[in-house]
Amino acid sequence: VNIILLGPPGAGKGTQARKLVEGRGMVQLSTGDMLRESKSSGSEMGRRVAEVMDRGQLVTDEIVIGLIEEKLTGAAGTGFIFDGFPRTLPQADALRDLLARVGQRLDAVIEMRVDDAALVARITGRFTCGACGEVYHDITRPTKVAGVCDCCGSTDLRRRADDNEDSLKQRLMEYYKKTSPLIGYYYAQGCLHVVDGLGEIGVVSAEIAAILDSPK
Ligand code: AP5
Ligand code: ZN
Repeated sequence: VNIILLGPPGAGKGTQARKLVEGRGMVQLSTGDMLRESKSSGSEMGRRVAEVMDRGQLVTDEIVIGLIEEKLTGAAGTGFIFDGFPRTLPQADALRDLLARVGQRLDAVIEMRVDDAALVARITGRFTCGACGEVYHDITRPTKVAGVCDCCGSTDLRRRADDNEDSLKQRLMEYYKKTSPLIGYYYAQGCLHVVDGLGEIGVVSAEIAAILDSPK
């Protein structure tokens, strides 16, 4: 199955995508992770991307569509999880065309609903493992040993440059203005499912599993 995780910054898209990768062997395609990779590569494009991302604005459709196109032609595993893509209507149209070209289809779009107050608390407490990508939170999901990743033992725990209140405000603005129209777009296609993203991580995972396992 191929699915989209749709939701505002901090909704839990990355957290749930990792669970699906571990539990089902799906392939996570996170445009945010791809862009951060290009940012840390120090290339000219990386520098331009960094400026836009750190402010909380969207990178151009052209760049992210190009990144997805590159990955889609690789191995599909048991399906793709689109995490943070598409984020605009042109990106959604491009994804439809790309999937058709590789003989795949979109099975479900899962909208993760979380209110803004909870998003601020989640984003300002978040840190991730630079080695394996595991996502943590100061209060709701701390590491067992302070400063050490539970999964891989790395001490390279990082906070994102755009995880501050000013950039978050801008990211939310971009979400409501440019990304939320996709809710109507996919609703009209009959593939939209809504989960309550405020529940505990395991509860949200169970809701997503129920959607993936329900007969189409
Ligand atoms: P991106 O990396 O996609 O960031 P985002 O959409 O802002 O989403 P986040 O990664 O912040 O949140 P998440 O939903 O994954 O939450 P997480 O699981 O980490 O994009 C970054 C930037 O890149 C964009 O601003 C833009 O500039 C650019 N970009 C990316 N894609 C683009 C595109 N397609 N087009 C144009 N530009 C693009 O969870 C958050 C925290 O909450 C964690 O600490 C976690 O532990 C905790 N948490 C998770 N679930 C729960 C739960 N159920 N209960 C309690 N805590 C929880
Ligand atoms: Zn790790």
